[in-house]
Amino acid sequence: MKKKNPTSPPGWEPYLAAAIEAAQDAAGIQMESLGRPHTIGYKGETDLVTEVDRASESAIVERIRATFPSHDFLMEESPFRPGGSPFLWIVDPLDGTTNYAHGFPHFCTSIALWHNDRPAVGVVLDPVRNELFTVLRGAGAFLNGNPIHVSREDRLIRSLLATGFPKNIRKVRNKNIRRFYRVILRARSVRRSGSAALDLCYLAAGRIDGYWVADLAPWDSAAGVLLAEEAGARITDLQGSPTVLGQDGIVATNGRIHAALLEILAPRPSQRGREKVKGKT
Ligand code: IPD
Ligand code: CA
Ligand code: CA
Repeated sequence: MKKKNPTSPPGWEPYLAAAIEAAQDAAGIQMESLGRPHTIGYKGETDLVTEVDRASESAIVERIRATFPSHDFLMEESPFRPGGSPFLWIVDPLDGTTNYAHGFPHFCTSIALWHNDRPAVGVVLDPVRNELFTVLRGAGAFLNGNPIHVSREDRLIRSLLATGFPKNIRKVRNKNIRRFYRVILRARSVRRSGSAALDLCYLAAGRIDGYWVADLAPWDSAAGVLLAEEAGARITDLQGSPTVLGQDGIVATNGRIHAALLEILAPRPSQRGREKVKGKT
């Protein structure tokens, strides 16, 4: 599992190696407790955190800090305390917590490194399938050391897509449900896997042709967006404008179906007024 990206730009290997080791530490913790009862905390009615999320996060920070003690961390389960470093690790220790808490074996660890406000390194590790996705900006995306690329499908009706729903779906009632309804009638099918980071990796690997979601946290998307971009994906927000992390929505595709998907995702004329007033999409 410790293969490096074959065409890595010089200098970034130690960072990639630290990210891989940290993800492997988290993977060990996750696999040891998979399917066992968990201590579940609630950050919201449907926003869970388990003891494994927290233990994974601690293991990741410990591993990376051992080599890079002055770097900053933005992580899902800890408050952000910036120390002024140009290096920022963006960490989702367990992406797919709801799946994990139910013993549903589809989850991962996502670790990205930003340098001077630009993505540089990304690692996503799926410990169930032993799939390690790695990326260095400018050097392509890899799965277990082999280059990956987005699909070449150019027809929506033959496309397999994925999406997700926000955790505040009960408060922002219609968020993405109307879009889901419209898209599933026009594509081959739509998956809702429960792990945004793996959705973006699956796009990078050509396993799905497109992915959209109404909002994401930086730790959900930081590694996956870089992986998808380096694998040839087109990434925009829901209006078709550039986005870095997808906080205001993301449409990520193989490029060939992008315009068609954006068109279907756009609010219908009859909905526009309502959405302006209520902020619901
Ligand atoms: C969630 C997953 C899910 C996405 C949610 C995320 P978590 O992350 O990535 O696919 O739809 O918006 O919050 O809580 O399992 O790390
Ligand atoms: Ca997540
Ligand atoms: Ca998480």
